[in-house]
Amino acid sequence: MSWITLEKLETKPEISNQEVRQALDAASAQVIRNLGQFTDQFQKAYSENGFYAPTDNVDWTTGFWTGEIWLAYEHTGKEELKRAGEVQMKSFLSRIDEKIEVETHDLGFLYSPSCVAGYKLTGSQVGREAAIKAANELLGRFHEKGEFLQAWGPLDAPDNYRLIIDCLLNLPLLYWATEETGDPKYRTVAEKHIHTALANVIRPDFSTWHTFFFNRETGEPDHGATCQGYRDGSAWARGQAWGVYGTAVGYKYTRRAEYIPMFQGVTDYFLHHLPEDLVPFWDLEFGDGDDQPRDSSSASIAACGMLEMAKYLEPEAAAYYKGIARKLVKSLYDHYVVTDPAVTNGLVQHSTYSNHSPYNTCNHYGVDECNIWGDYFYMEALTRLSRDWNIYW
Ligand code: GLY
Repeated sequence: MSWITLEKLETKPEISNQEVRQALDAASAQVIRNLGQFTDQFQKAYSENGFYAPTDNVDWTTGFWTGEIWLAYEHTGKEELKRAGEVQMKSFLSRIDEKIEVETHDLGFLYSPSCVAGYKLTGSQVGREAAIKAANELLGRFHEKGEFLQAWGPLDAPDNYRLIIDCLLNLPLLYWATEETGDPKYRTVAEKHIHTALANVIRPDFSTWHTFFFNRETGEPDHGATCQGYRDGSAWARGQAWGVYGTAVGYKYTRRAEYIPMFQGVTDYFLHHLPEDLVPFWDLEFGDGDDQPRDSSSASIAACGMLEMAKYLEPEAAAYYKGIARKLVKSLYDHYVVTDPAVTNGLVQHSTYSNHSPYNTCNHYGVDECNIWGDYFYMEALTRLSRDWNIYW
């Protein structure tokens, strides 16, 4: 087992602007091809034998499909995409009104790329209303004592007094709600959660915990654990990638100087644990020579985080991370992207949702398949590389 050296990483090619345009053309065409099946319904979280099945708006992942529709709309300006996005925002408003599967912290993943995006792009009042209601629902998951938003399960669940690193991407919904309503309560909760999360999920070597438990009686930090990583002490690739993007958005909204070295440490750990083709295995413990599935979605998420953080770094550091992001996206474009719609209705192959191991607690599904956030963040990375993009998060 081995990982690429930083010297070798520097020699890898970057995606060109022309390739970015071609990739966005191809991705948008695939989204448009899918509209017939996926306007009144959504793409499921992961493909099976390459194909996403239709699903109702019930999982934590449906916002990513609507996000792909908006990114394709931004790229092409096609009215059919706008109409589909509007249909989907109505579904999101019904979902929050009827409280369908909203007992989760994933309301940001659900409502930022769908309804905040639709509001920003079209001024949709349906999108605005749905997203503010979702932000209110998310506030309800905040524990005053531990100062964090509980990830999963009922708030009084004895075994779930914990946050997870992924939640950093749910917080922009709260910042947006404060900007939109003028009420600081959303931002206050987001800031407390970021602080609690970053103080606990990042280990001394800048690898990250997937989940972190607190003491319900005192609110004090208790212990880290994994759910989707290989083992407790390893770094789940997507968790590390959420850490890259999460520290970047944490800095964007708080401008706390101490978050810059956190971003750099977490990102550099990720880069030190990439295989030769720059697309990580599902856990960073694994490298070239290991017979393990990859998680291509982690490469896209990390690329988006580096491109976001580059906006706030000194020129030399910004150029470094932008260049690395272009290298990651180039590898996806050359080796992972779907080129034949007869093979899959997704965009990026070789992702892993949840891979059971002898040492973790997750279910086993979506292994070495497309997944919906991998497709979404690939398009987001391309969009970021194509122009100065007004972020959905
Ligand atoms: N947020 C859940 C996941 O990344 O699988």
